[in-house]
Amino acid sequence: MNSTLCFPRPSFSSSSEVSSVPRTSLLESSIPDAEQLQRHCILLKVDKFGWSANNVTYQALGEHPHFRYYDFHPIPTSSLASVTPRTHGIVPVWGFGTVVASAHPQVPVGERLYGYFAPAKYLVLPIDEKDVNKHSMYVPRPHLPPDRRVYNQIQRCSTDPLYTRETEDLTMLYRPLFWTSYWCEDWLASSGYRGGCEGVLISSASSKTAFCLAYCFRMRAKKARQRGSNNSSIRMVGLTSKGNLEFTKKLGLYDEVYDYDSFLFDEAFHAPRQTEWVSLTQPGWLYIDVAGNQSLNSKIYTHFASPYAVSKLKAAISLGMTNLAPGEKSFEWTTSLHTKASDTASTNNTAPSSLGFWPVAEQFFLPEWLAIRRLQLTPVQMLDMQTEAWSSLMRDCRSWVKLEYVYGGERVKEAYEAMVGSSRGLGPDKGRIWSMWDEHTDGPRARL
Ligand SMILES: NC(=O)c1ccc[n+]([C@@H]2O[C@H](COP(=O)([O-])OP(=O)(O)OC[C@H]3O[C@@H](n4cnc5c(N)ncnc54)[C@H](OP(=O)(O)O)[C@@H]3O)[C@@H](O)[C@H]2O)c1
Repeated sequence: MNSTLCFPRPSFSSSSEVSSVPRTSLLESSIPDAEQLQRHCILLKVDKFGWSANNVTYQALGEHPHFRYYDFHPIPTSSLASVTPRTHGIVPVWGFGTVVASAHPQVPVGERLYGYFAPAKYLVLPIDEKDVNKHSMYVPRPHLPPDRRVYNQIQRCSTDPLYTRETEDLTMLYRPLFWTSYWCEDWLASSGYRGGCEGVLISSASSKTAFCLAYCFRMRAKKARQRGSNNSSIRMVGLTSKGNLEFTKKLGLYDEVYDYDSFLFDEAFHAPRQTEWVSLTQPGWLYIDVAGNQSLNSKIYTHFASPYAVSKLKAAISLGMTNLAPGEKSFEWTTSLHTKASDTASTNNTAPSSLGFWPVAEQFFLPEWLAIRRLQLTPVQMLDMQTEAWSSLMRDCRSWVKLEYVYGGERVKEAYEAMVGSSRGLGPDKGRIWSMWDEHTDGPRARL
């Protein structure tokens, strides 16, 4: 039998039938045996997956018309009338699995795969008939926009240059986030950091996406120094909640870390407290918003937009939404990267023309920037860049968070519900590895 963690749909939760709908549900369903598998489908045993605020955002945007994260994996068919595709959706997870049955001639049983799976014991996946190569295979999802290809790609571990068995757990945690941070920094660097900046302010600084971004800025600055450039002294400043302040400082990836209140408390925004905000007198800033907290953003914009402020924002980038709770409906998708790409590519010296008196947040969405980079770089260049960055990360990240393992469907469901029930959601110090299986079954666990 299969067991899949299903999440309530916001659209249904707000309907009049809501009283009859259970919350998160463990759906039991049968799995096809090898003969019943449809042509070109595989049956995957999902061994384990990572869970972070990123997955909460997938859930919150599950039905959003731009993101459609609930449209990646259908709800399995079951006899449970209260859990249907109308009432529930599946939050995708990045994980590892092993092929246990295959009706695809190019995918053997026993193959180890990494991809955008479901929180389930088993997953039936159609694999594109032709879109299979030595390194990867693709799940055809013609109902989704073509730029979602990055989510449809499944990596074949045996030929993946970034794969090692020992780093599987770190891979599940960092890979989806790190590449966002890495390519976002690359996107900003490709415009000379919007004509040059002296400071980078990052919200939700304790999140992996945020501190990996700080790490990427540092990596580029370090390389510049090694090449003898002295023009690489950007101050990295993190903003986080009080409870996560010490954790964020200890990472050692930011030059300065402040809690949200230290910024908000000062009524005289036009003259921030110099003792605390060492760097706020720097002239040019990038603001990277991982929190997605509109009230915080409004205060930050007010500060930088003030005609009396010494500091100006060169760009405000929306990268994440850790403040978005599951089921929240207030989010609006405004601009896309494509509309900004011409701005950033055409000039190395000025901020985008849209950034006037009041900052206009630009959205960074990884698939869109990768599509542009694929036109500018060869596959070998991109692979070399990624291999170098990933090796550095795997060397440096081990002390950042402590891995925490939860095994078994019921316990995973409990861990999820505890997270939703807590006022601060996910703490930053743990790397959560979850499995719907009752025990560790996929070989030696990484020792860290
Ligand atoms: N644009 C993209 O393509 C892309 C790709 C990857 C990730 N992201 C986004 O980046 C964000 C961070 O993801 P992550 O997986 O790196 O996060 P994570 O490591 O799990 O971050 C946890 C942090 O999020 C904040 N947080 C957690 N629960 C919260 C709650 N209930 N209310 C308010 N804040 C809460 C806290 O940070 P503070 O105390 O520091 O605020 C917490 O330390 C997510 O929104 C994710 O979707 C975007």
